[in-house]
Amino acid sequence: MKKSFRLLFISLVSFLFIQTSFLQKNNQKQLNNTDIERRIDSVLSLMTSEEKAGQLNQLSYGFGWGPDVILQIPTEYTDLIRSGKIGSFLNATGAKLTRELQRIAVEESRLKIPLLFGFDVIHGVKTIFPVPLAEASSWDPDLVQMSASLQAKEAASLGIHWTFAPMVDIARDPRWGRIVEGSGEDPFLGSEMAAARVKGFQGDLSSNKNIIACAKHFAAYGGAEGGRDYNTVDISERTLREIYLPPFKAAVDAGAQTIMCSFNEISGVPSSSNKFLLTDILRNEWKFNGFVVSDWNSIGELVNHGVAANLKEAAMLAINAGVDMDMESRSYVTYLSDLVKEGKVSEDRLNEAVKRILRIKFKLGLFDTPYKYCNEDAETMTVMSQEIQDAALLSAQKSIVLLKNQNGILPLKKDLKSIAIIGPLANSKKHPLGSWEQMGDSNDVITLLDGIKKAAPQAIISHVKGCTIKGKSKNDFPLAVEAAKNSDIVILALGEEGHMSGEARSRSSIELPGVQNELAVELFKIGKPIIVVLMNGRPLAINWIAENIPAIIESWFLGIKSGQAIADVIFGDVNPGGKLPVTFPRATGHIPIYYNHKNTGRPSNPLDYFTSKYLDLHLTPLFPFGYGLSYTNFSYDEIQLNKTKIKMDDTLKVSVNVKNTGNYDGEEVVQLYIQDVTASITRPVKELKGFKKIFLKKGESRDVEFIITKNELSFYDASMKWIAEPGSFKVFAGSNSADAQFKTFELD
Ligand code: GLC
Repeated sequence: MKKSFRLLFISLVSFLFIQTSFLQKNNQKQLNNTDIERRIDSVLSLMTSEEKAGQLNQLSYGFGWGPDVILQIPTEYTDLIRSGKIGSFLNATGAKLTRELQRIAVEESRLKIPLLFGFDVIHGVKTIFPVPLAEASSWDPDLVQMSASLQAKEAASLGIHWTFAPMVDIARDPRWGRIVEGSGEDPFLGSEMAAARVKGFQGDLSSNKNIIACAKHFAAYGGAEGGRDYNTVDISERTLREIYLPPFKAAVDAGAQTIMCSFNEISGVPSSSNKFLLTDILRNEWKFNGFVVSDWNSIGELVNHGVAANLKEAAMLAINAGVDMDMESRSYVTYLSDLVKEGKVSEDRLNEAVKRILRIKFKLGLFDTPYKYCNEDAETMTVMSQEIQDAALLSAQKSIVLLKNQNGILPLKKDLKSIAIIGPLANSKKHPLGSWEQMGDSNDVITLLDGIKKAAPQAIISHVKGCTIKGKSKNDFPLAVEAAKNSDIVILALGEEGHMSGEARSRSSIELPGVQNELAVELFKIGKPIIVVLMNGRPLAINWIAENIPAIIESWFLGIKSGQAIADVIFGDVNPGGKLPVTFPRATGHIPIYYNHKNTGRPSNPLDYFTSKYLDLHLTPLFPFGYGLSYTNFSYDEIQLNKTKIKMDDTLKVSVNVKNTGNYDGEEVVQLYIQDVTASITRPVKELKGFKKIFLKKGESRDVEFIITKNELSFYDASMKWIAEPGSFKVFAGSNSADAQFKTFELD
């Protein structure tokens, strides 16, 4: 057989083989979906109204987990399970406990419907990763997806099927404590991170190493007035759709199987009874096919909101708006059956909610293999495995943002003779775990002191706290000053407690707590080089430090590998490449300040008194969105557009050559922004529409390209239609939102 014919024959055969196996697999998958629907219907047909309501009931299994978990199952829970009055627990963890709970469900209840176990895997379970705001600083969706997949692996080995994550709330107010749980102020970056985490958590749900994701808190929870958690949100539909919803849409498009509705109201309608949100947008516009779980008692809180007279009415409002599962209000299991009998809730709506939950249980394989996540050997092998710890270290290294490095004081040489490590966070084992630290053990934390000692074993290290995080005492300042006087260099670790951010932890001020700033001022007087390392869960108004301290590292809360990752950066084993996912205000009074702001009719102009400003504060941010330095330098050539005019269905190619002109290999996040200069609705002065994280060896350069379509140029017009309007646009490319060159083009 001629060679060419043989090759053709082989490729044809292999093509046919691939096609058939794909079709078989796809049919198999198609068969599974059809098979699942058939089995759902048959289970549903056997369920009483009470059992249907029970399936929608989720309760917290106490509050202890890990060593504190209650292994002796309270009879209240065993009774609920046996009578089919509960469909899911949250906070039940451990292969042993979840197996026993599941055994009772699938062996001792009438219909043997398996339970769903949920848990807040926000940044790890036992191996604690950097907080989400830190990981967002990596601007590296692949890293974040990898991180989520390993967090899922550890969680699944502990019997957990479902995480209440990713938290995708956009946050423009750093007083809001939950800013730490999300990916910052921008819808585009937030959407990329949301999709990456959903894919990482869910991966291949037929395996027992992935878990169901839950995009929360739907929606606009971060828009709370005053940055005060749970507070009123009053925003336009345009702001809702353009700023707060995109990361949820990205999560749904990435296949998120659940959504959690938020505590807050949006312009008068609480999310837990918001049909526009939960049905019109989520179901009818986005075609979401998973289920909606309430937040903790958020159904019951409809009474506090004043839209329900009592719990029964709250249940009716919530189920009819589109909330499928009730976390902790017990309103569904108590009232739904009666509400259906009274005709206030349709049997179809009840059945729809039950089917959505059964569908997830079938997708996870829990009906056929209810114990697939309850393997104690897998738990022992997986929890805190080297693979997962290594991932936590890599994530920590990539999450660090270098905010200042005057005269290249960093990286330090490892042959330093003496180092003073000062500050209340220098040797903290607890705070680097951040909030939602779950089973994280502070004994597993590598502190900054540990990390520095390991990186510079020959140096004489003197460690002094100098003050506490929030106390007023300056009694130890002299000790700190003495240590600094006797050292070559000072590393000063300042910031917040790990529990000064997170749920119910808003601060009225974003200044450094306590007397930490005063400590920095005292040490500065000595004249030794000082490096400030920040450990914090929100942007801080560190004006004096930013003005006077030569080197500043933003480390957020990096989890158990915190000290090692920071030391790797300080001594140059890692060249920092992080960028801020959120703007740093100069003062609390500067809030709200975010990069994608409107121009106003009187944009700030120092030469014109009657323009937008503060009498007592510089208007530009302390550090802008997208900002972060490297030990090397990157230069940007002039950006190139392949056209200066495009039609509606054209694409515009934007390219920029970036060169590493410094002495270190390094990573740069090239950012692309647009501005719709004139439109029928006022538009932001900039909107992030793309970014690429590139690695360049020293001396290396690369063309970075972006494609712009009309979608990147669209917005919601006066009648809330998503459109792109003809006119002129600016397209920016650069290293951060404040430092980006632009070119203009016309859209016809
Ligand atoms: C909390 C939080 C939510 C969390 C849930 C379960 O109140 O708002 O983010 O997932 O309850 O712990």
